[in-house]
Amino acid sequence: MSRVRLQGLTRRFGSVTAVDDVWLDVADGELLVLLGPSGCGKSTLLRMIAGLLPPTAGRVLLDDTDVTTVPPQRRDVAMVFQSYALYPHLSVAGNIGFPLRARRRSRADIRRKVTEVAGALDLSALLDRKPRELSGGQRQRVALGRALVRDPGAFLMDEPLSNLDARLRATTRAEIAELHRALGATIVYVTHDQVEAMTMATRVAVLDQGRVEQAGTPAEVYDEPASVFVATFLGAPAMNIVPATVVATDGGLTVRATDLDLPLGIDATTPGRDVLLGVRPEHLTLTGEPGIRAVVTAVENLGGDEVAHCRAGTHTLAVRGPRPLRLAAGDRVGLTARPEHLHLFDPGTGGRLVWRTADIATPERNFA
Ligand SMILES: Nc1ncnc2c1ncn2[C@@H]1O[C@H](COP(=O)(O)OP(=O)(O)OP(=O)(O)O)[C@@H](O)[C@H]1O
Ligand SMILES: [Mg+2]
Repeated sequence: MSRVRLQGLTRRFGSVTAVDDVWLDVADGELLVLLGPSGCGKSTLLRMIAGLLPPTAGRVLLDDTDVTTVPPQRRDVAMVFQSYALYPHLSVAGNIGFPLRARRRSRADIRRKVTEVAGALDLSALLDRKPRELSGGQRQRVALGRALVRDPGAFLMDEPLSNLDARLRATTRAEIAELHRALGATIVYVTHDQVEAMTMATRVAVLDQGRVEQAGTPAEVYDEPASVFVATFLGAPAMNIVPATVVATDGGLTVRATDLDLPLGIDATTPGRDVLLGVRPEHLTLTGEPGIRAVVTAVENLGGDEVAHCRAGTHTLAVRGPRPLRLAAGDRVGLTARPEHLHLFDPGTGGRLVWRTADIATPERNFA
């Protein structure tokens, strides 16, 4: 398997910069998820790695080879698309074996390889069927098989599960994760689905308007989002964001807004500074001694959990907890959050101000 390196990769379409100076290093055997909203440049980035689209600037390296100008069929990568793009007149075996026939491999070779891949994907009983005789999940597995037979250095997958229903998506997601482990495959996987990103990725790169906002393990990007964009893109309901001010008190620094006063527990920022305070809904807890005084406006049932929408000052906060929260619209509640669950962002740039994780935080990163 290969290491994939993107160095300053940029693509413009007229006045639109679809991908903007992307630097990413995908280690051998890594499953990197490119995550971001529609139009942020995910497919454009993947197509440049595949060689289907020339970059405006920057380089693509596979292992130590610069492949920026190498045509797609001579790059050692296999791409799996959202639409399975199977050949309707060929059987499952014919579809899986197609890339090997195109490479003029012997019939015995092709048969052996197709049998092996079909076994791994649980398609052995379906080899003689035509694509129209398969379910959506089975078709997507055939498309995966067609990529697998080539033994490529890296797999590129563009929303391969988005045509499947919720249940099939969950099982196929687990199958791809299992294949990744079994093969030690290098995979670059595009999705706008945060659940896929959180469950499958060894590392996630969150994209916004063609730029990488943050790259890290799923836990890193969830626990210490680098910006308001990342903070609110990951998590459901989205992280609460409230304009606030850092204030010095006898007990140390506290974050304050109307009806809100939460001790910061860390002196990494200056008193008097305006910030955007972020708190995840699951980190707000009901308490007798309020840091936040709020009124419940609505309660949503999510099955296992409930979300209470509350108003504090002029702001709306979502609170998530196990059902039943025993709250109703009109209830007055006190809420609090632990200092380590408070995120501070710059109101101008949206960038994160305080890093708490020991191995990431440095004195320079925590501004004074
Ligand atoms: N061939 C093209 N010509 C002009 N603009 C393009 C072209 N391809 C993509 N774009 C633009 O580049 C931007 C990024 O598109 P891209 O398809 O990479 O987004 P995406 O993140 O894959 O979105 P989605 O989640 O909807 O698939 C968009 O603004 C899109 O309109
Ligand atoms: Mg796309």
